[in-house]
Amino acid sequence: MRVLVTGGAGYVGSVSVRLLLQAGHEVVVLDTLERGHREAVDDRADFVLGDVGDADAVREALCCCDAVLHCAGYIDVAESVRDPEAYFENNASKPAVLLEQMRIAGVDALVFSSTAAVYGEPDAVPIPEDAPCRPVNPYGESKLRFEQAIAAASQSWGLRAVVFRYFNVAGAWPDGSLGEAHEPETHIIPRVLGVIRDGVREFEIYGRDYPTPDGTCIRDYIHVCDLADAHVRGLERLVAGKDGCVCNLGTGKGWSNLEVVQACARTASVSMKVTFGPRRPGDPAVLVAGADRARALLGWRPRRSDLGTIVEDAWRWERGGRFGAGRKDVTGSC
Ligand SMILES: NC(=O)c1ccc[n+]([C@@H]2O[C@H](COP(=O)([O-])OP(=O)(O)OC[C@H]3O[C@@H](n4cnc5c(N)ncnc54)[C@H](O)[C@@H]3O)[C@@H](O)[C@H]2O)c1
Repeated sequence: MRVLVTGGAGYVGSVSVRLLLQAGHEVVVLDTLERGHREAVDDRADFVLGDVGDADAVREALCCCDAVLHCAGYIDVAESVRDPEAYFENNASKPAVLLEQMRIAGVDALVFSSTAAVYGEPDAVPIPEDAPCRPVNPYGESKLRFEQAIAAASQSWGLRAVVFRYFNVAGAWPDGSLGEAHEPETHIIPRVLGVIRDGVREFEIYGRDYPTPDGTCIRDYIHVCDLADAHVRGLERLVAGKDGCVCNLGTGKGWSNLEVVQACARTASVSMKVTFGPRRPGDPAVLVAGADRARALLGWRPRRSDLGTIVEDAWRWERGGRFGAGRKDVTGSC
């Protein structure tokens, strides 16, 4: 199949592009490079510099495609609170142009990068897919709006979509050649590994008075390679003519922030002083996925999502200098 990957120069998109190519598929990437990296895009993929809100660029990129993987978007919760309009525009209004162009081109298969942020503060954990969606920030709200646009397109013209609600994505391509490079970085694993790489031996965790065993927040981490594998399976399912679905992507097991910092220090063979700051507003105590549906519908199993493997892969990427090392050699698979 030929797949249009929007946001294919970003973290999740670039790993997914490489895995799709390794699985024998053709790929075209559409990305503004506003928050992505041209060097992250595999040389074997076609590349269109453009915006998902630009009908001409989307039309060009969609040519001869069987399916779309829509990863493009803004992802910073704090930024979404400061500038909600930018998030509604980029994560909901512009992608509506993508949907319209898919309808016109007759491409009816879509995999969408959604987020656990659509759930907001859960009533219970693990969170099943049919839990109420009550996002608590504009980022989650903007992603939910596009989920609703997908549902409307499914009703009105027969779009089939696999909506993946990611929990905390982490890790890197196992040889350290592709990974997370957000600016600013808000995710805990690259932040801890980044300070360790820079020689700092102290890290502040937000809050230690949550109702959890060690008092710090608990999150469900999913390796980016396992996520990419789910994408390939979702796309293949749709192109085989099957129905869409909404699936969480997580492991069903949580790790506390303190455990994450300790795992990073262990992997990097350093000792870290942990300090505790105030809670960050809007952080639920525990977010863990009900993770059975993706297993049942897609035959998907996370293979690299134990915390130790995630951190080791992420450390190889950080220690190797990210793109700075100029690596194009790929040793092994995901
Ligand atoms: N990384 C996570 O932990 C996480 C968790 C949950 C959901 N997600 C979702 O996964 C997706 C990818 O996340 P990521 O971590 O790879 O982000 P990223 O910032 O690394 O990549 C996003 C890419 O999209 C591009 N882009 C943004 N707006 C665009 C537009 N209008 N047109 C074309 N390109 C555009 C950026 O230039 C960038 O290359 C996002 O949609 C995000 O909401 C990510």
